[in-house]
Amino acid sequence: MYLTDEEKSILNGEHGEGNMKAMELLVALGKAFDAEKLIPVSRAHVALSGQEGDTYWCELLVNGGATCKVPPTTNPSWDVENLTKLYEVTPEERELGERTIDVYRRIGAKLTFCCAPGLATNVPFMGEHIAFSESSATPYVNSVLGARSNRESSVSALAAAVIGKTPYYGFHLDENRAGEFIIDVDAQMNDPYDWGILGYSVGKLAGSRIPVLRFKNLERRPRPEDFLYFGAEAATSGAVAMYHFVGITPEAPTLEAAFKGKPVPASAEAFIDQKALNEQEAHISVGETGKINLVMLGCPHYTYEQLLSVEKLMNGRHVHSETAFWILSSIDAIELAERSGLRARLDSLGVQLVADTCIDEPCWKSFEGALGVTDSPKCAYYRERRGQPFVVRRLSKCIDAAVNGRVE
Ligand code: F3S
Repeated sequence: MYLTDEEKSILNGEHGEGNMKAMELLVALGKAFDAEKLIPVSRAHVALSGQEGDTYWCELLVNGGATCKVPPTTNPSWDVENLTKLYEVTPEERELGERTIDVYRRIGAKLTFCCAPGLATNVPFMGEHIAFSESSATPYVNSVLGARSNRESSVSALAAAVIGKTPYYGFHLDENRAGEFIIDVDAQMNDPYDWGILGYSVGKLAGSRIPVLRFKNLERRPRPEDFLYFGAEAATSGAVAMYHFVGITPEAPTLEAAFKGKPVPASAEAFIDQKALNEQEAHISVGETGKINLVMLGCPHYTYEQLLSVEKLMNGRHVHSETAFWILSSIDAIELAERSGLRARLDSLGVQLVADTCIDEPCWKSFEGALGVTDSPKCAYYRERRGQPFVVRRLSKCIDAAVNGRVE
C-alpha cells in the first residue's frame, strides 16, 4: 500500500502516539482490503455507542495526543440531563456514559448525538469521500446523496476523522458501486413504515450485495424519511450499505446506469408485492397482544415532519395513564418543535420528546418485563435483545396503542 512521506512519519510515531495508533488501524484496514493508498475525507460520523470498546479506543487516541482533523458528528449517546433523572441506571452505566461524552468532547468531535446526520447535521454532496459509521446513515449518504463511504465501524470512522484520510477501497471506487441484482416492487408505499418493511425484506434478500429496485405503480417519490427508514431496515436484516432505485436515486437514472457498464441481468431475482410485504410485517413482530407499558418511536431519530404526523394522528386524544410514550429525535427537530409550540402541544397529550439518546441505552431497562410497541423493526430487534418484547406496528396503530394502553 502506497504511503506518502507524511503518512509514513505518522505511522512511525513522529506525530505522537495517538496519531500513530489511528494510522496503524487505517493501514491495517487498507492492507486487508487491498487499498492502493489513502485518500482524504471531508466528513466523518462516528457511531459512538457508549460501548466500552469504542470509548476505550477514543481514550487511547486522545491520551496519545490525537485530535480530529475532520471533526466528526456523533451518534446518540444518552441524555444525562433528562432520562437518568426519570429512569435508573447503575453507577457503572452512568460512569461509562459520562466518560464517553467527555472523551469525544476532548478529541474534538461535534457532539450532535443524532443517528440521522445525512438529513441535517452532516450532509455530504454527490461524490464526496467521507467516513460514516452507523448502519442506517451509511446507506442514506451513499444511495440517496451519492456520497462515498464504506460501512465504517465507530473505530475506523474515528481513525479517519483523526487522520483526515481513509483507505481507498470499497464504495469509494466507481466499480464497487454498481448494482448486483434486480428486485421488482409493486406495492403501496405510503409512509416511512412501508418503506421500512420493504427495506427489511430487501436486506434479507441482499445480504451485503447492492440491490437495484424497479418500482411499478409508485404513486409518489420517496421522501428523506422514507429513504432513511428503508436503509435502516435493509442494514438490520442484511448488511446493505448502498442501493439504487431506478429513476429515483442519483446514480441510477436508468437501469443501465445502475449497473455502471456491467452486464444488466436479464430478469429480476425477486418480486415483492403487497402480499409479500404483509407477510413480512406479520413475521417481524412478536405474536403477543394486550397491555403495554411503552410506545417508543424515533429509531432512527424522528424528523420535525414525523413529529407533526404524530400530532395529527393523536387528534387531541391523551396517552393512557399507565403507558409511557417516548419519541427520540434530534436536538434540532426538538428545538424547532419547542419554538413552534409543537412540543408543548404533544406534551399536553402525554407524548414526550427526547434528544441525544438511543433506544439501546441502559435507562430504558426500567420498562423491561412488559410489552412495548414501536414502528421500527430495528428498535424491536435491539430491545428484544435486551429483554423486552416489542410489537411492531405502523404509526397510526402505535398511537392507538398509546391511547388505549394496549396493542391489538
Ligand atoms: Fe438511532 Fe439507536 Fe436506532 S442509533 S437508529 S436510535 S438503534
